Amino acid sequence: MLRRLATLALVSGVALSATAAQNIKIGVFLPMSGDQSSFGDETMSGVKMAVEEINAGKDFKIELFTQDEKSNPTDSANAVKKLINVDKVDVVVGTVASSNTNAAAPIAQAAKVPLMSPTSTNVKVTDVGEYVSRICFIDDFQGSAMAKFALKPKAEGGLGAKTAVLVIDSSSEYSKGLSAAFREVFTKNGGKIDNDGEIFYVQKDRDFSSLLTKIKRKKPDVVFAPGYYTEIGNMIRQAHTFGITAKFLGGDGWSAPQLFTLAGEKAIVGHYFSDHFSHEDTDPAVQDFVKRYRAKYGKDAPGMAALGYDSIRVVIDAAKRAGKVERTALMKAINSTKGFKGVTGVITLDAKRNANKPLVILETQKDRATFKTRVNP
Ligand code: PHE
Repeated sequence: MLRRLATLALVSGVALSATAAQNIKIGVFLPMSGDQSSFGDETMSGVKMAVEEINAGKDFKIELFTQDEKSNPTDSANAVKKLINVDKVDVVVGTVASSNTNAAAPIAQAAKVPLMSPTSTNVKVTDVGEYVSRICFIDDFQGSAMAKFALKPKAEGGLGAKTAVLVIDSSSEYSKGLSAAFREVFTKNGGKIDNDGEIFYVQKDRDFSSLLTKIKRKKPDVVFAPGYYTEIGNMIRQAHTFGITAKFLGGDGWSAPQLFTLAGEKAIVGHYFSDHFSHEDTDPAVQDFVKRYRAKYGKDAPGMAALGYDSIRVVIDAAKRAGKVERTALMKAINSTKGFKGVTGVITLDAKRNANKPLVILETQKDRATFKTRVNP
């Protein structure tokens, strides 16, 4: 066989590879409909870009299976069951909202199929076992970075805040965990949050007047509101009509163009949130990605697209190191990812299968977020 290949190569005058590309089935579940569909669209745009690039090469042929998790935990669990039992994928990538990943992760763990989340930051996501990993930082880091940024004196580039109110989405593990992380660091470093300084809402709420009445009365320096863009966009618009002047702060859940359209340009300017990536990053590898993304999609790459892109590339890097496409070998190789140069930073998975990476703090302008500062772990 080898001899024949060699002969063929000689005859045709082109270098023929003795080994064919390896097939790998990747199942991706994301919110393609529902209140988080912006997250699904953006992550998928990065996933597709990576798949096309890899399939254009000679090492791997990715067969992509996709499922809509419809922005809820039940459909997330069903999506992963289908990918594993019907499509028989080798590895699962997804999803965005931590509560949804938490609902699906035990299924992958029980079936011994590696599941990697590009974007779920809740601390508990990877607790379910060794088959579950992620390539993003966790909420302890995000909450701590935003608390320190709020407390830092204005002269040093922070907000000089002394008091805060927490606005928490009680239907989201992400929101609860992230506000707890913020609270701990803010109060430990001299900030004050009153006993009644935690105010709750749930997803799908659209009228925030009672919550905003409380905030108006309490007059905090900052409002930490780690929710998702649909509720937060509406909340910030209403806060403006209430005459609330406190800065709103949030986490990566704000990261969507709809934040700006829902809040409107009068209300949205001058707030801050943490994110995984900024297209303004001057790193040449980031700029190369931003340029190619722009050529393909006609817009600046959002953070989630960058994470979707990196997640597929990390899986393929692991498959290369594993030397075979087999679930347990893939899991082990994914978990030993070290120093992978992604567009969202250098990715090394720690003992808990989390990535320690820098974050960026972005400032909201009328219709987009701009780079404010970078925070290293
Ligand atoms: N980190 C969020 C969560 O765990 C999801 C998210 C990631 C949202 C990135 C926006 C951008 O629920």
